[in-house]
Amino acid sequence: MTSLIRQPAFLALQQLKEKERAVSLAQRFEQESNRFAQFTLGFGEQLRVDLSRQHWSAEVRELLCRLADDMGLAQAIEGLFADNNFNHTEDRAALHTALRMPPDAVVMHKGENVVPLVHAELERIKAFCQRVQGGDWHGYTGKVIRDVVNIGIGGSDLGPAMVVEALATCQDKGLRAHFVSNMDGAQLGSVLESLDPATTLFVISSKTFTTDETMTNARAARAWLLAACGSEEHVARHFVAVSTNSEAVTAFGIDKANMFRFWDWVGGRFSLWSAIGLSIALALGFERFQQLLAGAHAMDEHLRHTPFERNIPVQLALLSIWNINVLGLQSEGVFPYSQQLKRFPAFLQQLNMESNGKGVTNAGQPADHATGPVVWGEVGTNGQHAFFQLLHQGSVVVPAEFIGFARSAYPYPEHQRKLLANMLAQAQAMAFGKSREQVERELAAEGLSAEAIANLAPCKVMPGNRPSTVILCDELNSYNLGALIAMYEHKTFVQGALWNINSFDQWGVELGKKLAARLIDDLAAGVAEGHDSATNGLLAQIKAWGNAGNRE
Ligand code: F6P
Repeated sequence: MTSLIRQPAFLALQQLKEKERAVSLAQRFEQESNRFAQFTLGFGEQLRVDLSRQHWSAEVRELLCRLADDMGLAQAIEGLFADNNFNHTEDRAALHTALRMPPDAVVMHKGENVVPLVHAELERIKAFCQRVQGGDWHGYTGKVIRDVVNIGIGGSDLGPAMVVEALATCQDKGLRAHFVSNMDGAQLGSVLESLDPATTLFVISSKTFTTDETMTNARAARAWLLAACGSEEHVARHFVAVSTNSEAVTAFGIDKANMFRFWDWVGGRFSLWSAIGLSIALALGFERFQQLLAGAHAMDEHLRHTPFERNIPVQLALLSIWNINVLGLQSEGVFPYSQQLKRFPAFLQQLNMESNGKGVTNAGQPADHATGPVVWGEVGTNGQHAFFQLLHQGSVVVPAEFIGFARSAYPYPEHQRKLLANMLAQAQAMAFGKSREQVERELAAEGLSAEAIANLAPCKVMPGNRPSTVILCDELNSYNLGALIAMYEHKTFVQGALWNINSFDQWGVELGKKLAARLIDDLAAGVAEGHDSATNGLLAQIKAWGNAGNRE
């Protein structure tokens, strides 16, 4: 495949760069009375994506769509809904969209329709949720389950943890969900402190069932349970597993009957729709999990059947190509104006950075262009009082994505008005800023001397002209959240397709795991040699201060 940067449409985009840069966002709005309508996309009645405050024009958008056409994006999108080998370095398909298809859909993989497998597993999840939520599943003392602890990391944690937190107001089925991921025992310890072993169910979520953090936490949780219940025979009432690796699950001591499965064609960071979503269904109810799937499926249909110019994930991805590869802006800030979406930036970081943080193309050649951006963020309004200063006046330009909801599930209308006003104000300030003349007028009106004005004015000028996108939704519910997550999944996929990289492997995380394995042994044995001198020095210091893990 010809590289993105050698495509005629890309070369034409590069030619436009200076011309586009020369027009400020303020000028664009002055000149184009219908700019908002022209650059705002819709998904059903509930979602609007305002791309009008980006440094682009209809001409740029047209060229980006041509670039997508020339690079075969339409075929790539169809590939996502059919048997594919997108993850060719692991010889795996990427078929997560099959997880949210209706029961009568057909998605063939290696000669088998996988949709019935998906729905059979959903039925098992539903039945299990009914038993646990209905009080029909008892712990070792005969009491019902009150708390669910999901033990997993990365894709086996971030998606479910984010969704449960986002929809927590809908928790009418009454199970409390907790998430343990980190190798730091402080996390497991602080969760267990508040729990009663007799009423706690652990869901061990791991695609491979070999991930060290998860297995270490799972073993510690089992020891905690055994210390209370005294017998291995009770483990089955308190531990279930979600995995693709039934052998390892059995070896851990979990009954196969209590294992929920998914498949190697589901990537970890795309897995919350699979049985990895068990803790979502347990915490929020199976129906809400189904609504989440339905929202994601609707976004799949939007991706598949909407022309590129009106296609939200495609436009988001093309815009990022424009920002990253032409304008050279390699960071994306994501700011949900919703406390419930506190974990959303962390979820997006894995989704996008683990997928597109690649330097080699599908042909095994070094990429001759930039790829995945640094994705980061925090909820508004908290971010405003922390790092937004840099967004407004720093020397780095960071395109921002604001996510807001018109209605809140909480009965605080004043908060909600102020929250939305703040989000809109930030996008305004970024785009239009405040000129030197305006600043000087204001300072003069405050009675400052000419000298004080001359000193202060430069610091108070807001350059503006900083790009942002506003994603506005009517309310945060399961369906809308499903659609929003799928929108970002597809943005990630489209970016990867145009960069011609494998968005579904993650070889870059392996070396650290291997090095850690040897260092774990060295820490246990108190060895401080055989590594580079910095590592040896730090090992020696740890040893001198008391070896790691010495508080049993
Ligand atoms: O190490 C990275 C990674 O493989 C992620 O891709 C994955 O989501 C996470 O670890 C957890 O993996 P598993 O579900 O196999 O425990």
